[in-house]
Amino acid sequence: MEPTRIGVLISGGGTNLQAIMDNIKDGNINGKIELIISNKENAYGLVRGRKANIDTLYLDRKQFKREEEYNLELVKNFKEKNVQLIILAGYLRVLSKDFIQEFSGRIINIHPSLIPSFCGKGFYGERVHKAVLDYGVKITGATVHFVDEGTDTGPIILQEAVKVEDRDNLDTLKEKVLEVEHKILVQAVKLYCENRLSIEGRKVIIKWE
Ligand code: GRF
Repeated sequence: MEPTRIGVLISGGGTNLQAIMDNIKDGNINGKIELIISNKENAYGLVRGRKANIDTLYLDRKQFKREEEYNLELVKNFKEKNVQLIILAGYLRVLSKDFIQEFSGRIINIHPSLIPSFCGKGFYGERVHKAVLDYGVKITGATVHFVDEGTDTGPIILQEAVKVEDRDNLDTLKEKVLEVEHKILVQAVKLYCENRLSIEGRKVIIKWE
């Protein structure tokens, strides 16, 4: 089967991106990253892409008057590369309706909690783990989901739980969850590239084998 042409959006360190890159290289994911775009010029994920000779682009939001124009530029760049799947790997901007409609059912996001807990507006990165610790929950985790027009509301593909222990702090919890993020994001992208995911209403049906 032809490898799926993948576009990745990042804003930061890119460890989730790196996990995808490594698993493509190892032949575990039948995909090819055609373009990595960041809204942050200093995102280390851009360095990761350059080191692997993958096309990268820093798109400065300040060069555009409106969010919609910025998103249309994102769409234009991904379509020029015939991208079939978009992965949000630590991307911190909200996508426009146009973008989501353009790639409807083909945008995957990784979120560092068990949706529908600790998600939605304002819940990203370390803020999620702080809210988890402040609330005192005993279980958190990570979620991979398709992106719809809401914030972290799309059909869930995979989730995995992480125990919150008394001795956990922001750093230890973030590290434990990030490990699970890498694992389930890779699994979800692999399943997508092998055409083993289908969406029925709110449910994602997985053809395991
Ligand atoms: C991770 O916590 C991820 O859950 C969130 O962004 C953070 C950055 O991850 N979406 P990465 O190292 O940039 O992939």
